[in-house]
Amino acid sequence: EKGGYPDFMLKEIHEQPRVIRDTLAGRLVGGALSIDELDLTVEELNLIDRVYVIACGTSYHAGLIAKNLIEGWARIPCEVEVASEFRYRNPIITPTTLVVAVSQSGETADTLAAIRDARVKGARVFGITNVLGSPVARESDGVIYTKANKEIAVASTKSFLGQVVSLTLLALLLAQVKGKLKTNQVRFLFRELADTAEQVERILSDTSAIKEAARACVDAKSALFVGRGMGSAIACEGALKLKEISYLHAEAYPAGEMKHGPIALIDEGFPVIAVATKSPVYDKVISNLQESRARGATVVAVATEGDEEIRKYADHVIYIPKVRDAFSAITASVPLQLFARAIAVERGCDVDQPRNLAKSVTVE
Ligand code: F6R
Repeated sequence: EKGGYPDFMLKEIHEQPRVIRDTLAGRLVGGALSIDELDLTVEELNLIDRVYVIACGTSYHAGLIAKNLIEGWARIPCEVEVASEFRYRNPIITPTTLVVAVSQSGETADTLAAIRDARVKGARVFGITNVLGSPVARESDGVIYTKANKEIAVASTKSFLGQVVSLTLLALLLAQVKGKLKTNQVRFLFRELADTAEQVERILSDTSAIKEAARACVDAKSALFVGRGMGSAIACEGALKLKEISYLHAEAYPAGEMKHGPIALIDEGFPVIAVATKSPVYDKVISNLQESRARGATVVAVATEGDEEIRKYADHVIYIPKVRDAFSAITASVPLQLFARAIAVERGCDVDQPRNLAKSVTVE
């Protein structure tokens, strides 16, 4: 059942190129992007003036990535909120608000409650889920399926990638409808998005640098994940994976916040894991790495292939193929999944069934 892999988590990590391909299949119809399941007319879509992405845990992190894309491409204000907060406050919702509920299982209690609440208040609700006919699918106005297929490991990997790809499609669609991106630009971006399947395959084909970095951090008590922009969202997911399966305390911070507190944690050998891919904020991330290094941190950097300079600022470099910043979550998340798993395995943890966690959280 594990297909020759030692655990389901590793098997599922290796399924990710297929998930990307399946999630994108059939979306480019006659040269234009289409998501029929959304069940909104172009006119209705065009009226959307506010987006909330509502989710929990890893699915919430997919939302953080989506915010960058929805605001960046479609220029629609987008907020991301954990469902257990959203449902107990009084968010501003109008008939032109779009609520996107993201849930692998499709049955997370807080996310469902948030959907119900948003609909009562008049929002349109799209569900993004991995489970056919699940409550999230049934109770939303429209639904996109992530095509990850059944995910068995408790820690979410392939369904996260499916969520990120689905949300990227949604952002492209909104930008297309709003006229912020021309059809040919959307087509071009779609093709680049499809290329990430092959890039993820390449990452999976040689994981030696990831294992080496993991060995250097295995005895740590705590770790800090940092990045800026997209990298900051990716860091959140990297830290969550590590704490879930290895029980090592990990926190994510926007790198620019380091000197406002977390830098006090750093002493000799403290692991700082940085998303330092080429992006508009690359130089800023580098200066944060210098500050960490100067205080003795062991720096692990996820960096872009061909970037030799990074070696001056990091003890361990994990290279990944070059992609545009908008797609960096798809590639950069993969080494962080493998990094978390490698540490958990070294520490003798059950990576598929971490203590205290359940695959679906149907009570609040
Ligand atoms: C993390 C993880 C959890 C879930 C969260 C939401 O690896 O699995 O954080 O992401 O419980 O679950 P869904 O997406 O099913 O609503």
